[in-house]
Amino acid sequence: MLSTIKKFVPKSIKHEIRSALLRRKSTRDYETLYENHARELAPGSSIGDGDFDLIGRLELALLKEAGMTATSTLVDFGCGTGRLAVHAVPALNQGKYVGIDISPTMLAYCRTAIGAAEAEVVLWHQTDENFALADASVDYICAFSVFTHMEHEDTFRYLRSARRIVREGGAFVASCLPMTLSEARRIFLDEANLDSVARWGHVRNITTTREMMEVVATMAGWRVERWYDGDQDNITDPMTGKRHGLGQSTLVLRPA
Ligand SMILES: C[S@@+](CC[C@H](N)C(=O)[O-])C[C@H]1O[C@@H](n2cnc3c(N)ncnc32)[C@H](O)[C@@H]1O
Repeated sequence: MLSTIKKFVPKSIKHEIRSALLRRKSTRDYETLYENHARELAPGSSIGDGDFDLIGRLELALLKEAGMTATSTLVDFGCGTGRLAVHAVPALNQGKYVGIDISPTMLAYCRTAIGAAEAEVVLWHQTDENFALADASVDYICAFSVFTHMEHEDTFRYLRSARRIVREGGAFVASCLPMTLSEARRIFLDEANLDSVARWGHVRNITTTREMMEVVATMAGWRVERWYDGDQDNITDPMTGKRHGLGQSTLVLRPA
């Protein structure tokens, strides 16, 4: 019976069904990995190591250098437990903050961290690359420590999809782990010590190169404006006036 049905399904539809099934599996896998991760760790550490408060302030400083103002609409893609949100939401007091995450637990922590706000705040659970936002309705979108855990093909899909929602003059600000960073090379070797099943058994780190990220971003409809090397003290902490590096390198992209 099944083989009879299979025989009558046109090739193009078979391809569509296969792609849809594979897509469901991969997004579910990411979701399960992140949800388990978020439940296992405390909200201050599930989003990564380092000084939670300082990193949030540096992320906001990067967005402001890219042009974000109090009236901007910001999409914080992979908002996590609110490391950026606690600083960005007050800074957007006449604008809008849209926090998006694949993990409902991360989003719940993020909502608590934000508390009452003057800015319009929206938090969304999203499991694929389709942003439920109108064309050119967003000034800035950021992905801090998100593409660092995603295969390049997925990074491409999200970058391509985000292009539609960002207005001309806006920007995509994203961090990544190019192999020029000694920390990225260490991470790469750690991952190389695991087989592929073990690598994907937890939220894994993905390293890259500048060239790879630039090609992927360009193919997705973006123009590379600048890089901030993660190992250089190139971002000013607005609280202390001191210069710091983010650890990861940051890429500022403009609509091409
Ligand atoms: C390492 S944390 C970084 C959180 C936050 N951006 C920050 O800098 O504090 C990565 C976050 O991205 C989210 N994430 C990963 N893949 C995602 C996807 N495909 N869609 C939406 N969120 C995703 C994870 O659930 C997690 O909250």
